[in-house]
Amino acid sequence: MSYAQITGWGKYAPPLLMTNDDMAKIVDTSDEWIFSRSGIRQRHYSHISTGEMAWLAGEQALAAAGLKADELDLVILGSTTPEEFCPNTASWVKNKLGASKAAAFDLNSACTSWLYGMNVATDMVKSGSIGKALVIGAERISLAMDWSKRESCFLFGDGAGAVVIESSQQKSGLLAAHLSCVPDSRDCLRLPTFGFTPAHFTGDLHVSLDFEGQEIFKSAVKGMADAIATVLEREGLEAEDIDFFVPHQANVRIIQTLAKRLNFPMEKVMVCIDKYANTSAAAIPLALCDALATGRIKPGMKVLTASFGAGLTCGAAVIQWGDRVEPMGHSDAAVPDYEGTVFDLMKDSFAYYGVDAEHLLSK
Ligand SMILES: CC(C)(COP(=O)(O)OP(=O)(O)OC[C@H]1O[C@@H](n2cnc3c(N)ncnc32)[C@H](O)[C@@H]1OP(=O)(O)O)[C@@H](O)C(=O)NCCC(=O)NCCS
Repeated sequence: MSYAQITGWGKYAPPLLMTNDDMAKIVDTSDEWIFSRSGIRQRHYSHISTGEMAWLAGEQALAAAGLKADELDLVILGSTTPEEFCPNTASWVKNKLGASKAAAFDLNSACTSWLYGMNVATDMVKSGSIGKALVIGAERISLAMDWSKRESCFLFGDGAGAVVIESSQQKSGLLAAHLSCVPDSRDCLRLPTFGFTPAHFTGDLHVSLDFEGQEIFKSAVKGMADAIATVLEREGLEAEDIDFFVPHQANVRIIQTLAKRLNFPMEKVMVCIDKYANTSAAAIPLALCDALATGRIKPGMKVLTASFGAGLTCGAAVIQWGDRVEPMGHSDAAVPDYEGTVFDLMKDSFAYYGVDAEHLLSK
């Protein structure tokens, strides 16, 4: 039987930060409120596109795997915020990487996009239809924040994370995965009009995130707990057999509630929402990269992951880590820095939502 081992990993975190204190200059909030309700201290905001972030994370993942782009058979880009829908962004990333023979598609299941993509790519590798794949999660979700809604605009940040998977005879990679979509929970998290509708022709397009925080919270905990129970049972594992847990980073209280429900100690849980906020499809691969860089994932560990996102899509997987936790190499691919502040970067977005940022910042 063949497996789909994770052989490379990489991330891109944009250099510009929006701290909670910065946010409190624009909306009626505070660092104390945001941190105590969500565990978030800051988020990275990107001056480059989702595709460019995906490319930079992909270059790092390829270097970590010691692989050349033209050896890839497939590039999947998990994202809710591609800069264009046609052609897909994965094809741009594939060309930029030089992955000449790879197929390329975008996958949108919101925050679970990377996990959904990993499941698809793993099954393709295991079936023998492909040998090597790059699975990326990337989001420039700062552009979707509605600055008139203090209840949601602080929650999200930009970034990208990527992994390379390769066919292997060693029992490794995603062993069991379960994907689901919670019934009747579509309306609690939506970006209506962000796509083609008749309003496209009338110019009546106001993009604004619709969000029911507490409803999402409850559905997310239940959806992830159910998906985790399914994968553990499928692998014949108990929670205590898991060495490390890398959950989706949407709210530290969701993570704590889930860990408590599983009777799983927080010392074995990856939490990096303080640094990145919720980066949607990028959250789990970013967290994996940081867990590897800080020595929290060790060779041969059993790593549990679980995610949820708009839809409400959910999923969980058990990952058997291989023998290597050090990258084979590093890429020096880079883009020029942004010459300005985070407020300069966001000024058109503030104006779109009717926020007079210039006045607020001058106070
Ligand atoms: C958003 C979330 C942090 C809010 O936490 P909460 O404990 O549910 O807080 P509430 O929405 O009940 O708001 C409590 C109070 O704080 C106020 N409040 C909301 N946003 C605020 C902000 N940014 N700053 C200060 N006060 C705020 C509310 O107006 C409310 O005031 P009231 O009690 O006077 O009416 C939480 O519900 C959550 O994380 N939900 C899921 C996150 C998620 O879905 N992420 C994306 C999915 S992938």
